Parts: sequence; C-alpha cells; structure tokens
Amino acid sequence: MAQRVRGVIAPGKNEPVRVETIIVPDPGPGEAVVKIQACGVCHTDLHYKQGGINDDFPFLLGHEAAGVVESVGEGVTEVAPGDFVVLNWRAVCGQCRACLRGRPQYCFNTHNAKQKMTLEDGTELSPALGIGAFAEKTLVAAGQCTKVDPAAKPEVAGLLGCGVMAGIGAAINTGGVTRGDSVAVIGCGGVGDAAIMGSRLAGARKIIAVDIDPRKLAKAVELGATHTVNSRETDAVEAIRELTEGNGADVVIEAVGRPETYEQAFYARDLAGTVVLVGVPTPDMKIELPLQEVFGRGGSLKSSWYGDCLPSRDFPMLVDLHLQGRLALDAFVSETISLDDIEAAFEKMHHGEVLRSVVIL
Ligand code: APR
Ligand code: ZN
Ligand code: ZN
Repeated sequence: MAQRVRGVIAPGKNEPVRVETIIVPDPGPGEAVVKIQACGVCHTDLHYKQGGINDDFPFLLGHEAAGVVESVGEGVTEVAPGDFVVLNWRAVCGQCRACLRGRPQYCFNTHNAKQKMTLEDGTELSPALGIGAFAEKTLVAAGQCTKVDPAAKPEVAGLLGCGVMAGIGAAINTGGVTRGDSVAVIGCGGVGDAAIMGSRLAGARKIIAVDIDPRKLAKAVELGATHTVNSRETDAVEAIRELTEGNGADVVIEAVGRPETYEQAFYARDLAGTVVLVGVPTPDMKIELPLQEVFGRGGSLKSSWYGDCLPSRDFPMLVDLHLQGRLALDAFVSETISLDDIEAAFEKMHHGEVLRSVVIL
C-alpha cells in the first residue's frame, strides 16, 4: 500500500523549500523503497530550487543519501529488504554502447524508478537526480541502491552518493593519480577536498591546494594537502610551478567550474600532464586557448562526471577503506540537521561556511 511520509519539496523557481506529505507507491518491477537515514545538502539541490537544472517543478530534493531497503518489487535480485545502501544516480543499464564495451561507468542510459511519487493532491514530483532523498522514504530503481558495510555511519556513507565521490573519483578514476605524483587542486570546497583526499589515498607525493578563501586552505591541509596557494594573493600558475621545480603538476584538478580557473589548470600542469575538469560550468562560459599549446604540451584534458565512478565497484571499496581508518570521510560532515533546516543549510553553503550539512532522519 502506498505510504505517506514527510519530504522536502522545491515548489517553484526560487521559492523557499517546504516540508510536505509525500505519497510513496509500493515498489513495482525493478524498484525499491528505501528508508532514508541520512542525506547531505548538495549545490545541485540548490540549483534545482533556483530553476538552474530544468523547470520540472515541484522537485523532491535530496540525493546524497544512505538508508535501509524497506521493500523491493518484482524481479529485484541485487538488493533485499534490510540491506544498508548508498543511493546513486548511475544505475547502469548493461545494454547501451558504453556498457557493452565494458565501460559501464560511462553508461549512456542510466535509469530511475518508473512510478512517480506525488503530493497528496496527486501532483507528480520530480526527484532530484532521480533520487529525492530529503524524505523519510523514497522510491528508486533497485540499481540505484548500492549495498555497503552497515558498520559505516549513514551520514558518512551517504556522502559517497554525490560530491565526495565526484572529487575522489576525479583524482583516482579520471586523473589516474598514482604513487609519487604531484597534484594541484584548484577550488577546495567539498569536491576539491575530496580530490585531495583521493590523491593522498592514491599515494601522491605533493598535493597543492589552491583557493581564494584562507578558511578553505586550512581545511585542505587537514585533509591531506601538503602545500597551499591563496590565488587571490598569488598567481596560481607561478606558485604551482615553483612548488614543482618549475615544471607544473602531473595532474591538475579544476573543482570550481570557471574559465579562469580552467585556464590556470591548463598552464599549471607539467608536459604530458593531465587536467581534470570536475567543476561544473554554466552555459554562458567560454574559453580560448592557443591550439599550439594544447598540442605542444601533450598529455590529456579530461572531464569527470560523478568521478567516473561505478557505484557497485567504488562505494563498497571506499566504505571499507573508511572503516579501516584510511579515508577520513567524517571530515566532510560539518553539521547534522533535520528536514526542517534545509533553507538555513543552503544559506550556510552559499557563504562557504560548511563542507556538508547532512540531514539525519
Ligand atoms: N579560484 C580558486 N578557488 C575558487 C575560485 C577561484 N577563482 N572561486 C571559487 N573558489 C573556491 C571557493 O572558495 C570554494 O572553496 O572553490 C570552492 C568551491 O567549493 P563549493 O562552492 O563548496 O563547491 P563544491 O561542492 O566543492 O563543488 C565545486 O564542482 O560539482 C561541481 O557544481 C559543483 O561546480 C561546482 C564544483
Ligand atoms: Zn548502459
Ligand atoms: Zn550532488
């Protein structure tokens, strides 16, 4: 029988979010209902609220979540009621040309639940990134549930569902950071800090944190940066070169999503080095680069969506490393809040006061 739960919706462009009663249908074939235990507040939730993603209001916000599977629909074999899972927005299809070539992390046909959650009056909701986890329960495709070790705290494990995975994956999966590398990370918010943590895990020898906010640089050092550059005061490219014997870094990770920081990343890498763009640009942004420099420097210029992660491969592994004390994911949880505090959390995020506010249910 359909259930009534509390959930946070964005009713219309730039309108304040509010807690409403959400109707969650029983899971149909291939679907699962998950009892949410924790869900982080991400920039993407704010972008939905601002109408920056699309106009499919009302949205059911929230997508960096962990919880326990309550029920599953017909034909679901990958998870069972009682499983502790992290939700993902890359439920791979297994059939598309990327999947068939053995590259499911690029799946071009990821899927979500087929049925709709609604408001009490029947209005259909658009769940953020096909998840909608600022709610006591949510309906997802079973493939969006990745089983991990239940010894991990939900508020920590859930963060792997989005920003933290994007950053760690940008370093390890996309950038291929390895033992002995020098890495520069431009922009040390949640994503950049996760890239720093990932670089450290991968054995980088030098990790240079670049930001315009000294508070962010201090935090980056706590998470593993070996050097910092305040790019409001110093030329970032010069500073990175100086710290790398005049060469530039092997891997430069851009975690801001702006043309000027991308340009810094481009010029701050060593010959044959790699630039990874994980910051998300807006449609108006453009960049001009001398083509001869693009050619002459060799190496690669890459983008990283969701850290090129494969949830079934990466989430359980990263949770295990965390439980072994090798990945301090707790450092990303700045505060725990309730469903009623999300507007306030957006405000703090906007002012750079928090890495992550996490809703506990
Ligand atoms: N140079 C260096 N750092 C900058 C600059 C700049 N010109 N402008 C902003 N920053 C820093 C901010 O001070 C902040 O520390 O970049 C960081 C951005 O962090 P957050 O706003 O917390 O964003 P985060 O969640 O880390 O996401 C970063 O990745 O997934 C995308 O949409 C996301 O584009 C965003 C990026
Ligand atoms: Zn696919
Ligand atoms: Zn997110």
